Amino acid sequence: MKVSISVFVGLLMVLSINVIAQSKTDTIKPAAIWPDNNGNHIQAHGGGIIKIKSNYYWYGEERRQGLDTNYRYVSCYQSKDLVHWIFEGDVLQITKPDSVLLKWVVERPKVYYNARTNKYVMYMHVDGSVKSTNSNTKVSGGYSYARVGVAISDKPTGPFKLINTFRPLGHESRDIGQFIDDDGTAYLIFEDRPYGFRIAKLSDDYLSVEKEMCLIPQHMEGGAIVHYKGLYYAIGSALTSWAPNPNKYATATSLSGPWSDFKDIAPPEAKTYGAQSTMMIKIVGTRATTVIFMGDIWKPRTQWDSRYLWMPLEIGDGKLWLPKPQTWTLNIKTGESNLLKDNP
Ligand code: GAL
Repeated sequence: MKVSISVFVGLLMVLSINVIAQSKTDTIKPAAIWPDNNGNHIQAHGGGIIKIKSNYYWYGEERRQGLDTNYRYVSCYQSKDLVHWIFEGDVLQITKPDSVLLKWVVERPKVYYNARTNKYVMYMHVDGSVKSTNSNTKVSGGYSYARVGVAISDKPTGPFKLINTFRPLGHESRDIGQFIDDDGTAYLIFEDRPYGFRIAKLSDDYLSVEKEMCLIPQHMEGGAIVHYKGLYYAIGSALTSWAPNPNKYATATSLSGPWSDFKDIAPPEAKTYGAQSTMMIKIVGTRATTVIFMGDIWKPRTQWDSRYLWMPLEIGDGKLWLPKPQTWTLNIKTGESNLLKDNP
């Protein structure tokens, strides 16, 4: 009898440990280390996500320690629930794409799937200081090249091959954002320093930027858009480099505007809780729709340790609000999100 009681107690302990482990790992914790399937902190900074069938692919800046400094890298992670991520490797690895570049960067990669050509098309911000001195060298950190790079692949998990760099519609382009509308039309959002931020439609094969929808004459970057219940919501951040600032949003019934004034998405003194917008993802489930704010908490001196701030937004009727970061769960089937009280 004694033996069977201790076996029973042992079994209970194992079960409860499992339940605790399960609930711990099934949550999204803003600002925490986010381990991938190998236990490494996810390296997908300034990232973007696309859904192919029931798989989500998260692309971003690969900034782990020990990378070969001759290359710039884009990583890819795959998930079915947006919580557990499998590292698919560095799907883009490129050397300096133009000999005029001195110091150079590849930032904020975004991937689109083109059903007509059956290709995956990656846009990225390619920038750096250039050899010839021109008026643009005033831009901080030598971001004077101001182009997008375009790379293609047959598979979502690469390898992606860089095929071109250019200034979209002839304009300077720094931070880029991705928006795919409910009808499948693909847009690029890009920051054009002298003017503001632009929303432009991609060409049929997605390899070029074809048509400007709108110039929002606000000096903002980290552009993100979601189409929710008949209204477009655009988020942007101020131009403060890696330092956080109060991100703001505007709304419009059409991508071409007119856009409303920009309003705070959180108490301005919280400076977006230390994060900068990179994308909004809409999860349409069987019971609810959750719009997730995806932001980066940058750590400029230890970039590999930069964190993510993902939170379900309070959104609707022209209002958008980023709740105070706390642990939460997402049910990918029902679309429901649930905020959990963090321990003090
Ligand atoms: C930020 C931008 C980042 C990176 C950084 C460099 O404003 O959002 O993607 O370019 O500046 O200073």
